Amino acid sequence: MEVQRQNIAWSTLLLVLICIILFMLSGVSATRVIVGGNTGWTSNVNYTEWAKGKHFYLGDWLYFVYDRNQMNVLEVNKTNYETCNENDPTHNWTTGAGRDVVPLNVTMMYYFISGKGFCYRGMKLAVQVENLPPPPPSFPANNKINASPPPNYTTQIVTPAVLAFVALLWTFLY
Ligand SMILES: *[C@@H]1O[C@H](CO)[C@@H](O)[C@H](O)[C@H]1NC(C)=O
Ligand SMILES: *[C@@H]1O[C@H](CO)[C@@H](O)[C@H](O)[C@H]1NC(C)=O
Ligand SMILES: *[C@@H]1O[C@H](CO)[C@@H](O)[C@H](O)[C@H]1NC(C)=O
Ligand SMILES: *[C@@H]1O[C@H](CO)[C@@H](O)[C@H](O)[C@H]1NC(C)=O
Repeated sequence: MEVQRQNIAWSTLLLVLICIILFMLSGVSATRVIVGGNTGWTSNVNYTEWAKGKHFYLGDWLYFVYDRNQMNVLEVNKTNYETCNENDPTHNWTTGAGRDVVPLNVTMMYYFISGKGFCYRGMKLAVQVENLPPPPPSFPANNKINASPPPNYTTQIVTPAVLAFVALLWTFLY
C-alpha cells in the first residue's frame, strides 16, 4: 500500500517534469519581447534606438505594455508610419487592457504607431521579422546552404530522446 502510494507520487512528479521539459523545448524558438523593455510603450522613447541590434524572429510576439487611457497600438503601412497617419491602420491591436500581444507570424517589416497623436512624440516602431537562425551557435557562418531549419532539431532529435528516457524510467518504476 505504502509502496504503491510512493509510486504514484513519483510518477506524478515525473509527469510534471516531462511537461516542463517539453514546454521549455517547444518554447526555445519563440520569444515574447516586451516593447521598450522596462519602459514599455510610452512617449519620448526612441524605439528605433531600442530595436537597433535586436532580432525579431518568425513566431515571436511583441508585447505592448502601456497606459490604456492614453495610448493604443496600431499596425500601419510604411507611408503611414513615416507620416504618423493613424487614420488607416492595417490592423488595430488595441484590446483596451493596455496589454496587447502581437504575433509576428510573417517575415516582413512591421510598422506600429500609437494613435491619439502619440506617434509624433516618438511612439512608432518598425521591426524586421526574420526567419529563425540555425540552432547550434557553433555553426560556421558561411555554411548557410546546408543549414537545416531549426524546428526539426527539436522534433526530430530532442523529443524522441526525451520520450525514450521517459519510457526507460517508466519500466523502472513499474
Ligand atoms: C531615433 O534614433 C535613430 C537612430 O539612432 C535616429 O536616426 C533618429 O533620428 C532618432 N529619432 C528621434 C526622433 O530622435
Ligand atoms: C499606405 O496606405 C495609404 C492609405 O492609407 C496609401 O495611400 C499608401 O500608398 C500606402 N503605402 C504603402 C507603402 O503601401
Ligand atoms: C481599436 O480597437 C479598440 C478596441 O476594439 C477600439 O476601442 C478603438 O476605437 C480602435 N481604434 C481604432 C483607431 O480603430
Ligand atoms: C498572422 O496573424 C494575423 C493576425 O492574427 C492573421 O490575420 C494572419 O492571417 C496571420 N498570417 C499567417 C500567414 O498566419
